Amino acid sequence: MNSVYAQRRAALAQHLGPGAIAIIPTAPERQRNRDSDFLYRHDSYFYYLTGFTEPQAWLVLTGDGHSTLFCQPKDVEREIWDGFRLGPQAAIAALGVDSAWSLGELDTRLPRLLENHASVWYPFATHSGLAARVESWLAPVRARVRLGALCPTQQNDLCVPLDEMRLIKDAQEQDTMRRAAQISAGAHIRAMQRCAAMLRAGQEVHEYHLDAELLHEFRQHGSQYPAYGSIVAAGANACVLHYRADAAPIRSGELVLIDAGCELDGYASDITRTFPANGQFTGPQRALYELVLASHGAAVAATRPGNRFNDPHNAAVAVLAQGLLDLGLLDKNKHGSAQEVIASRAYFQFYMHRTGHWLGMDVHDCGSYVEPSEVGQISQRTDPLSGDTLVDRPSRILRAGMVLTIEPGLYVRPAPGVPEQFHHIGIRIEDDAILTTTGCELISAGVPVAPDEIEALMRG
Ligand code: GLY
Ligand code: MN
Ligand code: MN
Repeated sequence: MNSVYAQRRAALAQHLGPGAIAIIPTAPERQRNRDSDFLYRHDSYFYYLTGFTEPQAWLVLTGDGHSTLFCQPKDVEREIWDGFRLGPQAAIAALGVDSAWSLGELDTRLPRLLENHASVWYPFATHSGLAARVESWLAPVRARVRLGALCPTQQNDLCVPLDEMRLIKDAQEQDTMRRAAQISAGAHIRAMQRCAAMLRAGQEVHEYHLDAELLHEFRQHGSQYPAYGSIVAAGANACVLHYRADAAPIRSGELVLIDAGCELDGYASDITRTFPANGQFTGPQRALYELVLASHGAAVAATRPGNRFNDPHNAAVAVLAQGLLDLGLLDKNKHGSAQEVIASRAYFQFYMHRTGHWLGMDVHDCGSYVEPSEVGQISQRTDPLSGDTLVDRPSRILRAGMVLTIEPGLYVRPAPGVPEQFHHIGIRIEDDAILTTTGCELISAGVPVAPDEIEALMRG
């Protein structure tokens, strides 16, 4: 079977090489309260290698390419209550694995599978108790050494090769991510339009009303669930970075920040838009918005292969630093030039997060942010704000097929010297970008960012 999952297993096996064996569990089911569980979500590494979304499953892959799946056995009674189970027998054809067993056989079969391999690989620090579980399977192997068995002598972090593989999205992954971003873009448009329409009709609008619009659009288009807890933040709530859609009223004259994206077939989208609740920016809102938009444009222009992961951030910060001086949020007499604002990190008062992150199956996706070939090139500097010594390594060189977010923002909390007209304004503009061979494709561009376009959209 030559599914994309089988191809990934083959590529991973080849990377691990003879003598290696890898163990990958899916995610546990998690209790929410009493006898209710959280909605189940598979483990991303496990799904990447199997396409299998049932809980209680493990994949074992050897360096010579043999794959073994452990999964829930068929059980008519349990299936009446909990739903269909693929079962080991059908799993072989359905998933293209070489062998499959009931989960109940895991503890007896794993020692035999591990035997005579030199190294065992599993994801470190991702599944609580996994290292102890592996130890428990190695103990019986050691007991058989007297009989001539070989016990693995190395344990390695499987995240290292898998993160590298996942960092470059193949055509199928890119296609899914495009569709996820399109659905999310439609959801943002729906929420914006609904907000203005409700205010025009004289209705009370609360953050949860817009959260409901987002969810409606996600599910209407086949998304399984939001990729993360949606942020719908009215007015000053936008200055709380991890705010969640809550019950605050949304008032005419305020801005609304929505950071929300759906998950589609295992892949996340992550979009932020900030818009005037009534469909029309005030002067100060527009001035700050246009500054964030200019920094966003600079970051998009810096998102191209050959550049480094930090380049879009640095490009955004350069624009924001100058704009904060020009708009009087930072005092030129005190802070000097934009270069000085950057060197002193004075902009941090208003912009305290990074400009992006990898995006994929996980919203903050895996993948090293350091260029692997340059990890040894360490430089040290003193952080001007904390006085701490920071260690820097060269950031990742961008390549076609990587997917990242571009999300500059400004968050203005009242403070001495900060012009009152900007108080409590929080703005972020976040798009999802696939690196192409020449630049980047903004897959979330289905929802506009230009202030005039947002105002036009909200009039409609
Ligand atoms: N929504 C999470 C983030 O923007 O990183
Ligand atoms: Mn986001
Ligand atoms: Mn993000």
